Amino acid sequence: MSDPVIDALESAGQARLADSIRALPDDQADRLLLQVASIDLPLVERLVRELVRDPAQAAPGSIGPAEVDRLPADDAGRANRRMAFEAGEQALRDNRVAVVLLAGGQGTRLGFDHPKGMFPIGPVSNAPLFEVHAAGVGATRRRYGCDLPFLLMTSDVNDAETRAFFEQQMLFGLQPDSVTTFVQGMLPAVDPVTGDILREAPDRLALSPDGHGGIFRAMGRAAMLGDLEERGIDVIMTFQVDNPLMRPADPEFIGAHLLARAQMSTLVVAKSAPEERMGVMATVDGRTALVEYTDLPSGLEAQRDDAGGLLYWAGSTGVHCLDRAFAMRLATGEIPLPFHRADKRVATVDDPDPQAPNAVKFEAFMFDALPLAERTATVEMAREERFAPVKNADGTDSPDTCRAAMVDRAARWLEAAGATVPRGADGASAHPIEIDPRFAQDAADLTGRIPSDFVVDGPLLLRD
Ligand code: UTP
Repeated sequence: MSDPVIDALESAGQARLADSIRALPDDQADRLLLQVASIDLPLVERLVRELVRDPAQAAPGSIGPAEVDRLPADDAGRANRRMAFEAGEQALRDNRVAVVLLAGGQGTRLGFDHPKGMFPIGPVSNAPLFEVHAAGVGATRRRYGCDLPFLLMTSDVNDAETRAFFEQQMLFGLQPDSVTTFVQGMLPAVDPVTGDILREAPDRLALSPDGHGGIFRAMGRAAMLGDLEERGIDVIMTFQVDNPLMRPADPEFIGAHLLARAQMSTLVVAKSAPEERMGVMATVDGRTALVEYTDLPSGLEAQRDDAGGLLYWAGSTGVHCLDRAFAMRLATGEIPLPFHRADKRVATVDDPDPQAPNAVKFEAFMFDALPLAERTATVEMAREERFAPVKNADGTDSPDTCRAAMVDRAARWLEAAGATVPRGADGASAHPIEIDPRFAQDAADLTGRIPSDFVVDGPLLLRD
């Protein structure tokens, strides 16, 4: 069989897969060829060479603590944050902002059989994660009278179901032309020794999403950045599907990013404990970088400064602001983003039930763009206001801990507005409470919206 795709496979060093395709019945071979044609073979060839066959051992860089725009502790700090908030609000009113929801991941740890964004999280309403985010976008648009394009990144593993869900839910009330879905790339898993591309079935490659760093190439492919430029948008805020406490297009974060004239900014929160498994912001060889908890040299996680504070306390929420022109340079490859190898268990035709890692996957991470930026900002926000991710089915960072954080925040906002919230012996609200982002996006929004003698006497859902 002679076929340009088979020829391309052979010249990319994938003769074994080419042979397997030749041995297949025509219909199966055709299906596999279609899949092969959709992957970036020259990239796979380079990744196999650099990360599998001949991996270079990068010398670990010299790590130092990050410089962080800390939560205000005095009047001057509060005035700075107010200025940032107002600058962010102005950028929104001026239609300079777009948001990207990262929803292309596989959500393996949660083990939910649908896109993670469909997971019901509302403590009272059971609203899915997607609805909470869409409601935040809608509320921001109304408040600032802005377009605020909502870009939704999916991947082949969840694109069809995600689109169908949004359609079925009528885009949660958002205007159809204001929501754009785009699909990130997929990369094949390869054999850890030979670098051969693996198949999960005779006629199917073992493919997985190319990591959240795939956002840049995907936005480039979808010609999205040029479109944003034409619309005068120069700030892109990206956030993650699994954290319903995040405020899409957060004015304070956007303003802090703009006032710092940063090309890329990261929203951080204080780690809950030195050993929390969370990537921390640091400097590596003098440049801003995220260091994953697995890469932090042992002992550093507990190191303290003279005042007794943790040196590496700034945990990344994975939320970023990007300057559009900087994102464009990453999208075109002018500034290349590195890829990482991850050794994983992958069910393949030769090894359907692996008991140990049998495959290498390649992934790019958004935060790897940080050291490539000329200017960055690292902005702290209050953890209890902004961060409660759903990662695991139970235990830490699970639906239970996330819902508890949602209720707790709602209770605090209500109390700040003068309401009485009965609390149990553990200090938690005695009743589940939920505040829809369309009703209020922060404590101040509740002012005047509830009577001052308001008492929470049962499950409460505040929504318009
Ligand atoms: P995670 O790294 O937590 O991955 O993604 P995940 O897929 O949600 O969960 P696990 O690791 O398989 O259990 C953080 C955010 O980045 C997005 C996810 O959808 C989530 O919003 N993401 C991750 C992508 O958009 N694409 C990817 O390739 C990976």
